[in-house]
This record gives sequence, structure tokens and C-alpha cells, in this order.
Amino acid sequence: MIIAIDGPAASGKGTIAKRLSAHYRLPHLDTGLLYRAVGKALLDAGAPLDDVARAEAAAKALDPARFDEDALKVHAVGEAASMISAIPQVRAALLSLQKTFAQQPGGAVLDGRDIGTVIAPDAPVKIFVVASPEVRALRRFKELQGRGEPITQADVLADILKRDTRDRERAAAPLVAAADAHHLDTTALDVEGAVKAAIALVEAKRR
Ligand code: C5P
Repeated sequence: MIIAIDGPAASGKGTIAKRLSAHYRLPHLDTGLLYRAVGKALLDAGAPLDDVARAEAAAKALDPARFDEDALKVHAVGEAASMISAIPQVRAALLSLQKTFAQQPGGAVLDGRDIGTVIAPDAPVKIFVVASPEVRALRRFKELQGRGEPITQADVLADILKRDTRDRERAAAPLVAAADAHHLDTTALDVEGAVKAAIALVEAKRR
């Protein structure tokens, strides 16, 4: 069973994906980490984020087994990921890794922006997770604060709105719900409530 989870930044999709992966004992791929790793490679090299050749080369050279998740989760890397993810050559370079992960025997859980539309369009379960920008900004602010990052809640909200626009308006694999995705609004839900709702959606599909 492939479970495809998409949604904007800090909607809760990552947490839901991890919990579904544990619940159904399925391997999980946080595809945002792939784009973050490409963004970080460019930042580390001091290269501009619109350097297409360099971004494509970084995407082709990725080794997910060596990812340092803490280093990839910092705010600046998320912003860089959002920039380089609009480059079609970067998306193309990351395609087969994601498709192979999705199609492994037994199934998988993947979360990102284009899982239900591009990576696994035939996934039997697709969940599009949303939440109000203010609630998402508060969640991301608390997460970044916990990591000791010096950023204000207002700045996080402004960045989230910018990133939403960039992800939705890009030409290559924009953030959009698949026609057959179930929408899950986590604005008023805590983690347990959101996970329960997601499991109910998967179970309804399995029946
Ligand atoms: O989900 P996360 O915030 O880690 O993703 C970072 C950025 O990577 C997103 O803002 C988005 O631009 C990009 N991304 C993408 N497609 C995916 C996953 C992430 O374009 N499947």
C-alpha cells in the first residue's frame, strides 16, 4: 500500500507520515529532505540558488543514507530548498529515487508536495493536509525556537506565505491536491487528533 501525503509547510504532513509509517510498519520518505539537501549543498558551496547546473549536479549526487536531518531542518535550508525546488532539472534528477522508494514491495509512506500528483499518481491512499497559515507559522516557530534559532513568529509567518506562493505557482510540479486526495484540515487538531483522522482515512480506503 502506497500512502501519499502532500501539503504546505508545517501543515502536519511530516508528523502524520511518520506516525502512519510506524502504525502500518511501512518505510517512510520525507521528500522535503531531498530538496533541503540540494539547497544546503548550494549554500555550503556559496553558490547562488539559481545556479541550475550546480543544483542539478547536487541533486544527482545526493546520498540520503548520509543525511544529517538536524542540519537539514534549519530555517535557512528550508528557504533554499523552496528556491531550488522550482528548477525542473532538480525535480527530474530526484524523480527516480522517489518513484523507486514508492514502488518497493509492500508499499511505503511518502510526504511532500507532489507525491499524489507526480511521484505516485496511482497511490490508493492520498491525503492532502492543510492548516491555516497562522497555525502553521506558530507550529514552525515553536519547532525553530526549540532548535535555538533566532527568529520571530511574524517572520516565520511571512516566510510561510512566501513559500506557499512559490510552491503553488511554480511551473514544475506545483503544490496542488490530486483530484482523488482526501483533504485533512489540522488547524483545530492536536497531533493525536490528526493521526487518528489520517488512520481513519486509510482504514476507509482499505475496506
Ligand atoms: O517539506 P519541507 O518544508 O521540508 O520542504 C522544503 C521545500 O522543498 C518546500 O518548501 C518545497 O519547495 C520543496 N519540496 C518540493 N517537493 C516535495 C517536497 C519538498 O518542492 N515533494
